[in-house]
Amino acid sequence: MLFLQFFWFLIFSFTFCRSEICTAENCLLPSCQCPVSNANPTTFDVIELPQFVLLTFVGNLNKNVLDPIRSILNTTYRNPNKCPISSTFFIHDLHTEYCLVQRLFDNHHEIAMTASSNKCPLTNCYNENDWVRWTNEDWQHEIEQQRINIVHQAQIDQSHIKGFRVPHLQIDQNRHLDLLQKFQFHYDSSMLFKASKLMWPFTLNYPVNFTNCVNCDTWAKPYEALWQFPLHEWNYPKANTSCRALSDSSCLPTDKPHTADLLYNFLMHNFRRHSSLSIGRRAPFNIQIDLTWLSQNKQTRLQALIRFIEFITKSPDHRYVYFVSIEKALEWFKYPRVLNEMRDFWPFNCNDKIYGYNSVCSGTNSNDDEQEDKEEISRIESLKSGNKTNQTETENIDRQAEKLFPSGIAIHATWIFVVLIIGVYIYDKYFTKK
Ligand SMILES: *[C@@H]1O[C@H](CO)[C@@H](O)[C@H](O)[C@H]1NC(C)=O
Ligand SMILES: *[C@@H]1O[C@H](CO)[C@@H](O)[C@H](O)[C@H]1NC(C)=O
Ligand SMILES: *[C@@H]1O[C@H](CO)[C@@H](O)[C@H](O)[C@H]1NC(C)=O
Ligand SMILES: *[C@@H]1O[C@H](CO)[C@@H](O)[C@H](O)[C@H]1NC(C)=O
Ligand SMILES: *[C@@H]1O[C@H](CO)[C@@H](O)[C@H](O)[C@H]1NC(C)=O
Repeated sequence: MLFLQFFWFLIFSFTFCRSEICTAENCLLPSCQCPVSNANPTTFDVIELPQFVLLTFVGNLNKNVLDPIRSILNTTYRNPNKCPISSTFFIHDLHTEYCLVQRLFDNHHEIAMTASSNKCPLTNCYNENDWVRWTNEDWQHEIEQQRINIVHQAQIDQSHIKGFRVPHLQIDQNRHLDLLQKFQFHYDSSMLFKASKLMWPFTLNYPVNFTNCVNCDTWAKPYEALWQFPLHEWNYPKANTSCRALSDSSCLPTDKPHTADLLYNFLMHNFRRHSSLSIGRRAPFNIQIDLTWLSQNKQTRLQALIRFIEFITKSPDHRYVYFVSIEKALEWFKYPRVLNEMRDFWPFNCNDKIYGYNSVCSGTNSNDDEQEDKEEISRIESLKSGNKTNQTETENIDRQAEKLFPSGIAIHATWIFVVLIIGVYIYDKYFTKK
């Protein structure tokens, strides 16, 4: 009978672990983080937290935007640990030069992705005549195809492609989340929350209250250990409305020209809200920079962004601010540590090797560049010789191994339980009556 009780206990604890509310007991780092807004989710004092600024680029990545990108990511801009600032690029296929993608990757910027075509999945945002809402198959094709594009054309191993953002922030019934889990992405960065609720990154293990989310669909099921790096609406000082993004001017004053000064103040105001010890409490400041928007009014827009980055990286009062890629920030969220220990935090380390962007980016696979060192070339060679059939083989094995684990426990628990019940029944019937 003791055994039976033990197994009841096991069954109970299984059910308990599956309980529906995210708490500090059932949700533990590094694979689970409850959603928290306008509060500090760590055990550290707020002033000991780093403020992350996540520069995330979307849009057409090609030589037309190379100069603005190079000036934004100028290696003279350094984080407090003396390493150059880094950023994240969400790559789609059309008008993308993969040679440039490769250079950015070599210079330790993160290559993440969006859907291949970058069309609008949910609403017809460009008034196309033949627009149709994406089906599950469309989503699957778009994501699968873009992963292949990056692996083959930029020669970046798929294990480096960790993040995803839905095109035009159009979430449709969380279809992309199923695929992100299937393809083993580490995070999504698509959910847009109201400016009044500055959220910290969280995982989707437990139901999330999406009342303050602008573009979310209701939470339908858990995605274990899949992180969300939310975006937030932007406020203009003293205005009553919010803008969806930096590139949205709907909350900016209509009676003034949108000069570099005005945009710089817009950036600083929203930065201060995130880093404020009373409002955002150093919630990460995730800035979506639309490359098309940037290239349209280059003088003012670029100038404002550069002034913002330059001011913060050079200012002694902002030695707590780190401009990093989401991939790097994610390591901190899994294994948080105080500011004083950031200098030795390995994901933020760097070497001072910088690759030039000057090689010809013709849009084809031109890998010839004197600046590529041996290591780089051997990395590419090993990728090229990798056989596609072998790749998919190991992929399947990996995925299956992950799936088998939880169901394996369940199956073993069930058969042991059944055998015990039968054992107890037989014992009861034939041996205890005497
Ligand atoms: C980077 O910054 C330095 C110093 O401000 C400047 O001389 C250089 O031209 C900049 N490089 C680019 C590519 O903008
Ligand atoms: C979600 O949050 C809002 C306020 O932030 C609250 O009013 C609402 O009751 C919450 N919904 C659930 C289901 O908890
Ligand atoms: C904001 O709202 C307040 C009252 O709710 C109003 O007095 C003020 O004029 C509004 N400001 C703008 C810029 O619309
Ligand atoms: C691919 O697998 C075959 C056997 O299935 C093996 O002989 C070959 O060396 C593998 N190729 C690579 C690049 O690993
Ligand atoms: C690569 O796969 C093909 C079959 O798709 C096979 O014929 C070839 O031998 C493989 N190459 C290596 C190096 O394993």
